[in-house]
Amino acid sequence: MNSKYAVSALCLVSSVLLYRPAFGHGTETHGKAKHADVQMKKMHHMMPRFSAAAASLEAALAKEDLTAAEAEANKILSALPDLEKSKPHKNLKEGPRFVELAKKEKLAVATTMDIAKKGDFAAALAAFKKAEAVCAECHAKFRD
Ligand code: HEC
Repeated sequence: MNSKYAVSALCLVSSVLLYRPAFGHGTETHGKAKHADVQMKKMHHMMPRFSAAAASLEAALAKEDLTAAEAEANKILSALPDLEKSKPHKNLKEGPRFVELAKKEKLAVATTMDIAKKGDFAAALAAFKKAEAVCAECHAKFRD
């Protein structure tokens, strides 16, 4: 391998592994890639919190604790706009479907809370099962 190829290969590998453009090329493409990586990092931070919030929301609904349920639902709802802007690693071409699923998640969580506010916690729990089905639907298509 000559040195030009070695440098290109190294550049590519470090971009992928370190989530940043290697050696500061500063081209348009690298700029965009960097933006996507920042969103992706946000998503990695966001997702375990989603999991914790989903579990706590379910527990709060089971205990019929509306205040706690609202707090957990808000954690999920406030993170969803960032999720919509993220780029998954897999099935990149289906970006619009990704955004659609993030919106569907928002609607499902909002519906859950509307029902909970009316005091029907059993129905709210059932509605939240649908929200969790959206988590799984998105993971099936877009998670590695
Ligand atoms: C619009 C798509 C989408 C929705 C909706 C979604 N996720 Fe994810 N989630 C992803 C993707 C993509 C990844 C993989 C991120 C990666 O590793 O690049 C992921 C990863 C995760 C992970 C692993 C964390 C990690 O660091 O890899 C957890 C836990 C998780 N999601 C929980 C949830 C829960 C709980 C919900 C529903 C409340 C949810 N997600 C809804 C797309 C989604």
